[in-house]
Amino acid sequence: MKPKNCLIFGASGQIGRNLIRSLTKNNIKVTALTRNIHQKGYILKTQANPGYLEIVEGSIFDYELIKKLFSKADLCVNLVGILFEKGKNTFTNIHVEFPKMISKLASTYQLEKFVHLSALGIESAEDSIYAQSKLNGEKEILNNFKKSVVVRPSIVYSVNDNFTTQLMTLLGLLPIFPIYYNGKTKFRPIHCSDLTNSITKIITDDIRENIIEFVGPEEMSFKDILEKLLNLIGKKRLLLPMPISLARASAHIFELLPRPPITNDQLKLLKYDNILSGKYKNNNDFDFNCSSRFEDEVNKYSYMWKNEGEYSKKRIN
Ligand SMILES: NC(=O)c1ccc[n+]([C@@H]2O[C@H](COP(=O)([O-])OP(=O)(O)OC[C@H]3O[C@@H](n4cnc5c(N)ncnc54)[C@H](OP(=O)(O)O)[C@@H]3O)[C@@H](O)[C@H]2O)c1
Repeated sequence: MKPKNCLIFGASGQIGRNLIRSLTKNNIKVTALTRNIHQKGYILKTQANPGYLEIVEGSIFDYELIKKLFSKADLCVNLVGILFEKGKNTFTNIHVEFPKMISKLASTYQLEKFVHLSALGIESAEDSIYAQSKLNGEKEILNNFKKSVVVRPSIVYSVNDNFTTQLMTLLGLLPIFPIYYNGKTKFRPIHCSDLTNSITKIITDDIRENIIEFVGPEEMSFKDILEKLLNLIGKKRLLLPMPISLARASAHIFELLPRPPITNDQLKLLKYDNILSGKYKNNNDFDFNCSSRFEDEVNKYSYMWKNEGEYSKKRIN
């Protein structure tokens, strides 16, 4: 059978790389748009067999280019997302205007399916601009193209993430680690390949649900996550609850950095549990396998953050 062509925006990120591998293994060709082929080309190229991946450099707002890409696509996945605003990369542009534009094109070119990555917990986080922009983007998509599937994952982890890897780096450096809201916010971390294999199934099994929430098998508070990571890297640290006024003041300073570790908007988001809403179907309602356990998976790469680095890896027979 002639392979279908899936156009991916944001393919060079954590979820994108895993998704390219999963789609191409399932005989789906991928066209990946990136802003910088020199920086991201080498990461992308190795994710698929020859002939299964086309990499295109360009801006997500180059309408003529995007239109041309849609004219050759059967499927589309949008993974573009930001956690903080910089210049023209505002939440409105990235999370609302761009999805609005491409979901209209998905309709014009009569694609078979459009999968959009949103996030869990955005309906409750009414005071977060990030969350509200994601929600508005979802509304545009569902309004513009009926064959859309909005995927709302809890926090996604893997060796390529900016979550466990950054936390382990910080836990390695800081003797005292600040925790917000007493570390009580709940998460259901999901392993990246569990999520991307499920996205592939949404496409291959032609699943038509409009919104699907995705969670991993274990519920953990932020403090539980930090304690598990500390255990995995063999370190002891003081986890110190930080008063929220102090957290806000430090976030204002971090916002001046090119890549702030935390912003005021993210602080607001952290107040809300990142677990199933109960309002929509979730991965457990489908034939998806999202059962990877957090400690088992992080154990496969956390040894690099131990004192002896690569030499502390346990031999697995
Ligand atoms: N990771 C998580 O824990 C998590 C949880 C819930 C939801 N999500 C959502 O899932 C999606 C993918 O997440 P991810 O973790 O894979 O993200 P990521 O690693 O940060 O990658 C995002 C990709 O988006 C592209 N991008 C970012 N800003 C852009 C801009 N201004 N213009 C054009 N492209 C831009 C980048 O591609 P180029 O640099 O190649 O252009 C990048 O590869 C996002 O929408 C995110 O909100 C993620």
